[in-house]
Order: sequence, then C-alpha cells, then structure tokens
Amino acid sequence: MPLVTTKEMFQKAYEGGYAVGAFNVNNMEIIQGITEAAKDLNAPLILQVSAGARKYANHTYLTKLVEAAVIETGLPIALHLDHGSDFELCKSCIDGGFTSVMIDGSHHAYEDNVALTKKVVEYAHAHGVTVEGELGQLAGIEDDVNVSAEDASFTKPEQVQDFVTRTGVDSLAIAIGTSHGAYKFKPGQKPQLRFDILEEVANRLPGFPIVLHGASSVVPEFVAMINRFGGEMPDAIGIPEEMLRQSAQMAVCKINIDSDLRLAMTAAIRKHFAENPTHFDPRQYLAPARDAIKGMVAHKIKTVLGCEGKA
Ligand code: G3H
Ligand code: 13P
Ligand code: ZN
Repeated sequence: MPLVTTKEMFQKAYEGGYAVGAFNVNNMEIIQGITEAAKDLNAPLILQVSAGARKYANHTYLTKLVEAAVIETGLPIALHLDHGSDFELCKSCIDGGFTSVMIDGSHHAYEDNVALTKKVVEYAHAHGVTVEGELGQLAGIEDDVNVSAEDASFTKPEQVQDFVTRTGVDSLAIAIGTSHGAYKFKPGQKPQLRFDILEEVANRLPGFPIVLHGASSVVPEFVAMINRFGGEMPDAIGIPEEMLRQSAQMAVCKINIDSDLRLAMTAAIRKHFAENPTHFDPRQYLAPARDAIKGMVAHKIKTVLGCEGKA
C-alpha cells in the first residue's frame, strides 16, 4: 500500500470512536520504533515532520525513510507536514511527496488565517493532499516560536463553521488546554481540558475530524528515569492519558505526540551511559532508544488512541 492521505483514516476513526497517533519523526531509529509498534498492533499511523525536522534530517532522507517504513509494514501511513508556517513550505512538501500538510495560521488575524489556509487547501486538493488548519493558540514551544500561557487562547466555537466552510480544510486543530513541550501545567495546578469547547465544536461540525496538538502525557515513568540518570525535570507535567482517551472517543481523530517520544529516547540513552559508560558504539545506545520509542508508541496505541487493529 502506498502512502495514504488522512481522509479515510479520519472517517474511520470518527465513526469508530478512536484517534490516529501523529508522531513526530527526525531520524531512522524514531521512524523504525514507531512503525514497528504500529505493525505489531496493526494500527494506522501518521508520521509528521516539522520544519525543524526537515532542516535537521533533510526532506529526501525523511521521505525515503518513511517510504521504507511503508514497504516494511504494509500499513496505511500518512506523511504529514507539522506546523507549516507559510504557503511555500506547504507547497514544497506537497510537491515533494507528502500526503497531508498542516497550515498553521493560528497566530494570524482571523481573516488572514482564512485567506492563507484557503490558498494552501486549493493547491493541496489539486494535488490529492489533505490539509489541517488551526484555530486558537496553544501555549508552549514549537520550532523557535514560544507562546506563553498568557498569550495562548482557547478556540472560539462560534468561528469553526465559518472557518471550515470558507477554507475547505479536511481537519481542524483546536486549543482546549493542551500545550507543546514537557511543562504543560504549573506545579500544583490541576491538569484539565476544556471538554465543553470540544463538545461545542463537535456539535457545530458534525462528523468533522478534530486534532489535538500538545498531547503528550509526559509519562512519569520516563521523567523519573531521566531524573534518575542525571536529568533535572522535576516539574514536567503532561495531559492525563484518560483525558486524551476521552477526547478520542469524541470528535478528536488525530492526537499529536512528540515530547513523550523525546523523553523515552533520551531516558534510554541516559540509562545506557549511566550503566555502560565505555560502550560508545552508537548502535549500543540507539538500539535501546529505538526500543523505548517502540514501547512508548505501543502504550499510546493501546491506552490513549484506541486504534489497535484498525489499520
Ligand atoms: O509541535 C512541535 C513539535 O513537537 C515539533 O517540534 O519544531 O522542535 O521539531 P520541533
Ligand atoms: P507534545 O509536545 O505534547 O508532544 O506535542 C507535539 C505536537 O503537538 C506536535 O505538533
Ligand atoms: Zn503541534
């Protein structure tokens, strides 16, 4: 099976009350770890590439590695641009074989977001590619943009119908309290999501796939492991997994996870060097790092996404 768009996988996810995991990829071991877990559990998959990942690993290397994963697994996999900032970047990814792109105009004024998103949709749809737009702003860090909690703003449900109709987007990322990175809530603050906003958005857009960014749970076991082996992340807090599961049973069809993979990989590498300081062959620490990614993704598929057996 060749790379697929998100169209059919979202339709099935919506109807089935589950979500597809969108995992950020930066190198071969990350791609292998994610896709091996999905293959074992027969789960659909979105592999997403940020502008930073594309700069780090090169467009051709990443697309060829993902094509290799498609051959190796036979799974329905979408290759998606994460947080496309402008038309040119989206066009370059569409021309270069991606099957899905995000145009993130959420930091622009509403009408500018509509105009930019519509332009990307027109080009993408003419090339058989699906598009994710965004309304509302998350807190946290993505590439070099750092949005503080004070500047973040929840999605306004009264805007979503107009935005989707005028732009023609295939899915919509919304802000309901998730945020990027490993520090999503202040110490002592009770983690919570605005399910009332999600519900109102879903009511206004029946059958339409919603996306959650910033959806790592910052799994405590891995934070503890990083801290045990010389890291300092005592205040890292993520989104409780049961809340993500609940959103997947509602209109959320795509859940973005990056920080949890970073934590799993880094914890495994820290552990390796703490226990084997003289083992310097990169395969000796990248193999356990890949296994940690695989374990994390298997855990997400079973516990958070609910997409086991849905490929
Ligand atoms: O939302 C951002 C993703 O975690 C990608 O992060 O821009 O550092 O590659 P990055
Ligand atoms: P996390 O930082 O919570 O993993 O979010 C990743 C993300 O939203 C990528 O677009
Ligand atoms: Zn994101």
